[in-house]
Amino acid sequence: MLLKSIFATALAIACLHAETGYDAWLRYRPIEGAALVRVRATLPAVVVTLNDADAEVSARIELIRGLRGLVGRTLRAEERIPRESAIVLGTLDEVGRAAPQWRLHAQLGENGYWLKTVVERGARYTVVTASNPRGVLYGAFALLRKIALGVPVDALDERAAPYAPIRWVNQWDNLDGSIERGYGGRSIFWEDGHTRTDLTRVADYGRLLASIGINGCSINNVNANPRLLAPEMIPEIARIAAALRPWGVRVVLSVDFATPKTIGGLDTYDPLDASVAAWWKQKADELYRAIPDFAGFVLKADSEGRAGPSTYHRTHADAANVVARALAPHSGLLLYRGFVYNHHMDWRNLKNDRARAAYDNFHDLDGQFDSNVVIQIKNGPIDFQVREPASPLFGALEKTNQAIELQITQEYTGQARHTVFLAPMWKETLDFDMHARGAGTPVKALVAGKTFDRPAGGFVGVANVGLDENWCGSQLSQANLYGFGRLAWNPDLSSRQIVDEWTRLTFGGDPKVDDTVTAIQLSSWRTYEDYTGPLGLQTLTDITGNHYGVNVEASERNGWGQWHRADEKGVGMDRTVATGAGFIGQYRPAVARVFESLAACPDDLLLFFHHVPYTYVLHDGKTVIQYIYDSHYQGAEAVAAYVRQWKALAGLMDGHRYREVLAQLEYQAGQAVVWRDAVTEWFRRTSGIADVHGRVGHYPGRFEAEAMHLDGYQVRDIVPAEDASGGKAVACGAAECSTTLKFDGAAGWYTLRVEYFDQRNGISHYRLSVAGQLIDEWPADLLLPTTRLDSTSSTRRVIHGVALRPGDEIRIEGRPDGGEPAALDYLEIVPGGE
Ligand code: GCU
Repeated sequence: MLLKSIFATALAIACLHAETGYDAWLRYRPIEGAALVRVRATLPAVVVTLNDADAEVSARIELIRGLRGLVGRTLRAEERIPRESAIVLGTLDEVGRAAPQWRLHAQLGENGYWLKTVVERGARYTVVTASNPRGVLYGAFALLRKIALGVPVDALDERAAPYAPIRWVNQWDNLDGSIERGYGGRSIFWEDGHTRTDLTRVADYGRLLASIGINGCSINNVNANPRLLAPEMIPEIARIAAALRPWGVRVVLSVDFATPKTIGGLDTYDPLDASVAAWWKQKADELYRAIPDFAGFVLKADSEGRAGPSTYHRTHADAANVVARALAPHSGLLLYRGFVYNHHMDWRNLKNDRARAAYDNFHDLDGQFDSNVVIQIKNGPIDFQVREPASPLFGALEKTNQAIELQITQEYTGQARHTVFLAPMWKETLDFDMHARGAGTPVKALVAGKTFDRPAGGFVGVANVGLDENWCGSQLSQANLYGFGRLAWNPDLSSRQIVDEWTRLTFGGDPKVDDTVTAIQLSSWRTYEDYTGPLGLQTLTDITGNHYGVNVEASERNGWGQWHRADEKGVGMDRTVATGAGFIGQYRPAVARVFESLAACPDDLLLFFHHVPYTYVLHDGKTVIQYIYDSHYQGAEAVAAYVRQWKALAGLMDGHRYREVLAQLEYQAGQAVVWRDAVTEWFRRTSGIADVHGRVGHYPGRFEAEAMHLDGYQVRDIVPAEDASGGKAVACGAAECSTTLKFDGAAGWYTLRVEYFDQRNGISHYRLSVAGQLIDEWPADLLLPTTRLDSTSSTRRVIHGVALRPGDEIRIEGRPDGGEPAALDYLEIVPGGE
């Protein structure tokens, strides 16, 4: 009886996260066929841990867990090397002491590991060794990854070491539990101003991070709440540190520069004031007493309204050094953000340019920062747009440490509702040669400190993790977290290698699944760029609002500086030295020459650097305006194809994730059409130039809701006009409303597409009937980031296989709820039922 219930509990635990995405790439589902036979043939029965350091214990637990899942065998845990075959986990020193005869000596670098097969007296030892316990943990994950991917592990001799010492994620989590720019649910760390009581998710996150080599995690928003450094918060932070520690992930905090004044009781936060320096020192000491392995601070100062040294006319170096000196005795680091700019710039002045800001603020200070300060620089000079050139600041710091900041969370890239695999974008920047010391100085080498021999540097990713069961808001977005970690460990990996690995670990090896997922992921960035901001226009989104829906003009005529300067005559921001804002002059001459020249500038960045007429002819032979039209149609069609490709995977994976991704792709396909229509309409209206293929403004089979027979519905103008088809929608001000249309086409099978508006402040209901028969009904229950009728709420319902006859009445009824008026934009009637 007892046994039975133990068994039942074990089974229940095993099924707890049954393919919801929770296990991410650490699923450890059984391998099969020849790979299984091969592993089982040489798999020992014992795993030895030579030390009880946290990370080594985690390595043992992980290996036992992983192998039980992958090959169905539970290893015995021992502490001494047996005479029989075994997996041996230990640092080089530990292995050297326990088995000196193996002569395992190597310079592995910090956190590097060595997987080595040793055969002795007929026994086979799979040694996972490293210079330190964390490296052993990384080696254990690498071994499991090989087994999961079917790579033979019976004759190993592989050494690997991380490319750079800093491999951190930044969570932008607020103490109230919300996450700035987070799309994966609420914070796993915080709720109601305090650390969560249950930190299971934090520990599980630590495990995910360790598996990809991440060694630091900043646990609060860069727009930091000073209260975090109040004495009563420190034990709470220590609890988080304790949950992450077994996985070798050290806690980092974002701090607010005014904290000595706001909570410290001083009347100043002047970095050159001795009392301020003493305050930071005392605070750092207090933190290190509670968290001896605390990693350091992130600091956003003088940016977007945050306090900074400018209050006292001090420099960024003054600010950075006062905080860094408090951390230095404990070997802590200060990551000082390079994202400093003026967001009240005069847009009328064509010489103003936000892109110049990072370089202008930091270049002259090169050499003035202490050796434990690292300037954390966003990949591009603006702000995580769909495409930007590499920030010139990477090439301009020779005597200062630097790290690249990449955004894993998809703020300007579809907010996890659109599939955008970012590794290819990141690689373009990492591989870009800044010519900082002649040719051959790619960004990755600069940030890793290799080019100018700097003691610290590396990779920081703004992470996308929250309480959602699948962590990231969508299954496919997990690939971005995985990709970030893998690139931070080894930026020489190709995007294809990374996504292929991720897909096989996450979706499990069916070749058709692998090929399809890999192909979708690899093309997804270009696809998204095609319909949201091609040719270096940057993401044409609502930049003063939610950064999600379309709003071509939102970037213009305001001080934020994300200008693209599109008007009736032309488009693009002139950043040349010759006639423009001069930004290009911040690059080294070999790079500047390429961007400055219209002829040499790559098409993908043309409008980032140059203002040209719409009729300007690109390298690919098209005019700029025609390229804008074509790319939008191409992008929307590519997403429609993703839906078809995904549907072909039915039955080849678990139903849960299959359906979740299908729903996400179908939504994205609708949203891509919203973008396509809005952007192309805007440019046609502004340029006055028609699409040579006649698509823009002509939508066969589309019936505007405002032109149908309305009962209760009222016509509304939508702002901006291009956010709705025809600039108008209908909204219901009564308990229930309807629109009707008499079908006058030929009898046959059709697909109906209903474009409606799904705001977050209500769940309206819709019903569609044909000739009095109810065909479909649905709730508008998505949580999109708007309470308005606009391109963000615009959503599509697709109803396949509808038989229509001439004279049929198609009726759509809407029942509003809360503040949501069950609004409709249009109905499309498309021949063919599939
Ligand atoms: C973006 C983002 C902000 C964030 C800022 C930063 O502008 O929209 O939410 O605070 O970047 O990186 O500091």
